[in-house]
Amino acid sequence: MCGIVGYIGFRSAREVLLSSLRRLEYRGYDSAGVAIVADEIKVEKRRGSIDNLKVDFDGSLGIGHTRWATHGIPSDKNAHPFLDCQGKLAIVHNGIIENYLSLREELIKKGHKFVSDTDSELIAHLIEEYYQGDLKDAFFKAIRKLKGSFAIAAIHQDERKILAAKNESPLVIGIGDHENFLASDIPAFLAYTNRVIVLKDKEVCELTDDFVQIYDFDEKEVRRDVEYINWSLEDAEKSGYEHFMLKEIFEQPIAVDNTIHSLISRNDLDLEFDSMVIVACGTSYHAGLVGKYIMEELLHVPVYVYYASEYRYREVLENSLTLLITQSGETADTIAAARKAMAAGNTTLAITNVVGSSITNYVDMVLYTSAGPEIGVAATKTFTAQLASLYYFAIEAARNKMLISPMRYESLLNTLRKVPYYIEKTLSVEPRIIKEAKKIANSKDIFFIARGINYPIALEGALKMKEISYIHAEGYPAGELKHGPLALIEEGVPVVTLVPVDKTYEKMLSNIKEVSARKAYVIALSPSEEVGKYVDSLIKVPDIDPLFSPFVNVVALQLLSYHTARILGRNIDKPRNLAKSVTVE
Ligand code: G6P
Repeated sequence: MCGIVGYIGFRSAREVLLSSLRRLEYRGYDSAGVAIVADEIKVEKRRGSIDNLKVDFDGSLGIGHTRWATHGIPSDKNAHPFLDCQGKLAIVHNGIIENYLSLREELIKKGHKFVSDTDSELIAHLIEEYYQGDLKDAFFKAIRKLKGSFAIAAIHQDERKILAAKNESPLVIGIGDHENFLASDIPAFLAYTNRVIVLKDKEVCELTDDFVQIYDFDEKEVRRDVEYINWSLEDAEKSGYEHFMLKEIFEQPIAVDNTIHSLISRNDLDLEFDSMVIVACGTSYHAGLVGKYIMEELLHVPVYVYYASEYRYREVLENSLTLLITQSGETADTIAAARKAMAAGNTTLAITNVVGSSITNYVDMVLYTSAGPEIGVAATKTFTAQLASLYYFAIEAARNKMLISPMRYESLLNTLRKVPYYIEKTLSVEPRIIKEAKKIANSKDIFFIARGINYPIALEGALKMKEISYIHAEGYPAGELKHGPLALIEEGVPVVTLVPVDKTYEKMLSNIKEVSARKAYVIALSPSEEVGKYVDSLIKVPDIDPLFSPFVNVVALQLLSYHTARILGRNIDKPRNLAKSVTVE
């Protein structure tokens, strides 16, 4: 976790570094800091967000960091950058150094003085240990000693250059004219340049004002092409919305449409498999659960869905197509799962939103969702884009395996193509949802119940509610309520029910009666007017083919949690204790 940035050129390093760091705050915001070569290296770092920094010095060469704590509590002293003993060189680090204890001990024996509890600080001392007037030479010697995941940038006050290395944590270079940039993610420097090189694992780069050179860890030069980024910085900014999350909720028709279009041109999805394993974390896991329903329904193959952190420690099913779903492509548990599935000889397919992200290095095939950058920590548009990919994959596979008639194929594909329209219609229900948010905002607990393909959406609705409003929320299969949670239903407790008109309809009405009898405050999302007779409040959602109802229901639930959190004045785009991409296991 964490975001790192670097700048060398003719502009104010303070301005470039601070504006770049702000765009990386989604990677963590426990503390922030910068090191700038003025006459000598100067450092300002503090606990809390970038706005807390008081940088009263400037130069045209520097590095910066925004932190999500792993080793050592969030504090001023554990904030990056770190200096060597002489205060002449500074480093920033994203990742985890696995052999830090032994390296730290060795360095302490040699007389180095440590000031923090982090694993990262030793990198500065290790480079210092090797430094004999040549930063590049010392940097290579140091990184070859490190085990673990890292994106590191280092500067020395006597040399006008930045050295950086990448292994299993993202790092991109922005190429300018008489200036160059470095960051964990492209939006950091997109205001300055759209020319980019995405570094691969075990690569080092050396940046000067006019020169970028990439090497492997053995110091052999590597040639890499420059990519041109065609999305604008505005795409990554709020465009007038109060929060990124709301903007991203409203971008879902486009995100889904773009995703479907980008997949329709693929002709390499005709894969052979008898079973499927889906591995993911968080919201992506819920997309995987919906994927299970749709695959089993259309392909008649068993599909097993695992949390990536659990999959790692279990027996791997052989001869299974393994789908890894991760919007960021950087989630450590999901990457580890991909490696494990590959090692067992399974075909692996990643669904991710970030081109060139780490997971793409560890799988056989990649399906990119085309949702555009997602900044809000709570995943929204990447979720519906993931669903679109899973539905598309299932529909195509069902046709290829001749499991559905050409007519059914056409009808499913048509409905999928119309999903953006149905999402648009759902968004127009926002005023109704705001009313409900006002009613439930002061609740202690909220329950979400559904059946079948919407059960994962109940889980997702509860997760969204928890993460951004901090209200305790639980998603349940409606039929399970009577086996425990019903004991918690008392007068006024909100129960949000998802009621598509399908084979679960009658049973959902019975479950609604169960909770109504205990005086719960029942909200229903349904296209059916009739449901209104049985609930306290009906939010009418568009009447889409029930197999596709997760798309509309999840959008309504995203809005419900957003508005509840907004009423409560929560930090919606950056909920406490959470981060957008979790690169620790
Ligand atoms: C974090 C984010 C969640 C996300 C999960 C998985 O916990 O806060 O929003 O669903 O990671 O992320 P991934 O990038 O693998 O989809």
